[in-house]
Amino acid sequence: MAKVAVLGFGTVGTGVADVLSMNKKQISGKANQEVELKYILDTREFPESCYNHLVIHDFALIENDAQVSVVVECIGGCGVALEFVRRCLKAGKHVVTSNKALVATHGLELMDLAKTHNVNFLFEASVGGGIPVLRPLMFCLAGNEIEEICGILNGTTNYILTKMSQENLAFADVLKDAQDKGYAEADPTADVEGIDACRKIIILAALAFGKLVSADLVYTCGITGITDGDMAFAKKSNMEIKLFGRCYVCEDGKLAIFVSPHFVAKSMQLAGVNDVFNAITIRGNAVGECMFYGPGAGKLPTASAVVGDVVDCVLHSDNRRDIVWTACGENAVADFQSIPQVWFVR
Ligand code: HSE
Repeated sequence: MAKVAVLGFGTVGTGVADVLSMNKKQISGKANQEVELKYILDTREFPESCYNHLVIHDFALIENDAQVSVVVECIGGCGVALEFVRRCLKAGKHVVTSNKALVATHGLELMDLAKTHNVNFLFEASVGGGIPVLRPLMFCLAGNEIEEICGILNGTTNYILTKMSQENLAFADVLKDAQDKGYAEADPTADVEGIDACRKIIILAALAFGKLVSADLVYTCGITGITDGDMAFAKKSNMEIKLFGRCYVCEDGKLAIFVSPHFVAKSMQLAGVNDVFNAITIRGNAVGECMFYGPGAGKLPTASAVVGDVVDCVLHSDNRRDIVWTACGENAVADFQSIPQVWFVR
């Protein structure tokens, strides 16, 4: 039997507990053994929750419990989450996370740590919520030279842009609605200023090109500067405004990587991706263009991707997945100003 611990009992953590419980039979079948949630770590009590008996407050219980082989980090951010993930990897436990900030900022260190301790560090849910995209990029498309990745990578902003376009609603009203629905980050700045999408395109670029770029080298523009005039222009021109994260290799070999709102012709597939849905197009020199589409945020979709990684850890506990990437130097990244900007909303 494989025992799992969840760190953080917020939206994603609750979703993971729910999926492990409601799909227990299917999950155990796929993992070839029973998979059981043993602990939930949080600072709070949850007297109303049916998982309250699993809630603990002392991380050391998990760290020192040899029965726990997989730890799911759903705390978010790079504070205590980073410390706990480091300690779990050092204790020889596989770690699964949906925490894009952690992966985009500390991915090199954590992957090295996982390698040293012969465990997995997996993060499918960190990009595209429930959409399977990282594994297809790493494994199914491994025979390609990746030419470009372009994605709608943030559910909250896509939800806001959809409502602004289709229902002529004001930005602030739709943001509140997105927060009520649990899509937005605790601090919505990360969503609306493009920071969340920036972290996700960094992860995609790292898996596609083997280079982990620092966020301060990624031109990042969110949706707060979009005006009524921009919306009216898009409508008049039969276009939508979408927030894209993009990366590709320029002719001089430098990596173009940026996040920016774009005017998108309605005939383009990505223009039709609405609400909280995300979509990522990946163009490879053998396969051509593939599009990965699905729910980009939300409790159960994100938990679906997390639990997929948990099963992978259980199945491959003696045969870890290695990801080879290196840090990307400043002079290997293209200056955004040198990129043709005709479709960007600035
Ligand atoms: N706040 C994120 C989004 C959650 O809206 O896409 C999923 O990463």
